[in-house]
Amino acid sequence: MAANRTGGSPRTRLIAGNWKMNLDHFEALTLVQKLDWALRDAKVDREAIDIAVLPPFTDIRSVQTLVQGEKLVLSYGAQDLSPHDSGAYTGEVSGRFLQRLGCAYVLIGHSERREHHGEDDALIGAKIRAAVRHELAPVLCVGEGLETRQAGAHIAHVLAQLDAALEGLTAAEVPGLVLAYEPVWAIGTGETAGPEEAAEMATALRGRLAELMGEAFAEATRILYGGSVKADNAAAIVAAADVDGALVGGASLDPAGFASLITEAAGA
Ligand code: PGA
Repeated sequence: MAANRTGGSPRTRLIAGNWKMNLDHFEALTLVQKLDWALRDAKVDREAIDIAVLPPFTDIRSVQTLVQGEKLVLSYGAQDLSPHDSGAYTGEVSGRFLQRLGCAYVLIGHSERREHHGEDDALIGAKIRAAVRHELAPVLCVGEGLETRQAGAHIAHVLAQLDAALEGLTAAEVPGLVLAYEPVWAIGTGETAGPEEAAEMATALRGRLAELMGEAFAEATRILYGGSVKADNAAAIVAAADVDGALVGGASLDPAGFASLITEAAGA
């Protein structure tokens, strides 16, 4: 579906807005409409960069109606999914429902879910499988806490998260996988890992992906950085080696600001 692409040429940059638990379905419509106008005004080449919004579940139907009705060049997805496809799982949302709504992506293993919902490696692995069963591109989030970073164990920690999430999976079983490196200490804090730190981790992740899944898969996989990305640091972050875009929280809630961020990233 042209309006909800998952990539295209190898490593098209991706900027994804994680709204978290913000904006109801009316506010979602306003944001997406204003974002599209701002991107048109800024003349962002929409074929050169993939842009996605990841609203709360209750907003997705509205976003789908707007994106498809107006033929906006914008992808959308969800922030989580159930590892199960259907059944007695009160409160859960199936990947099948997300696919039916035209979702392209789904976040998996965001640090807020690992922390507040006790998501462990086994559950995250099961969610990756569920995403792929329903043709959703999993955006696997990994990242270390401050103590781990200060102890110098961040690379080992993040690679272990990657190994655990992908255990037992082959490259053919995770088409469209996207990685998002989000140091927990940089999320919503105003602290950002510098481009050097982002590049160091992205290169380590790509190296491990090559070992696990083969060189071609690693080269084709987009690795995002997330954690206090704003319009004024986006260009430097996405220009860092092995970084293919950004997962943006707070700064994706303001359409003009998010459009500026995307413009900066597209021009970097
Ligand atoms: P932030 O959040 O941009 O507000 O730091 C990023 C995220 O949690 O995905």
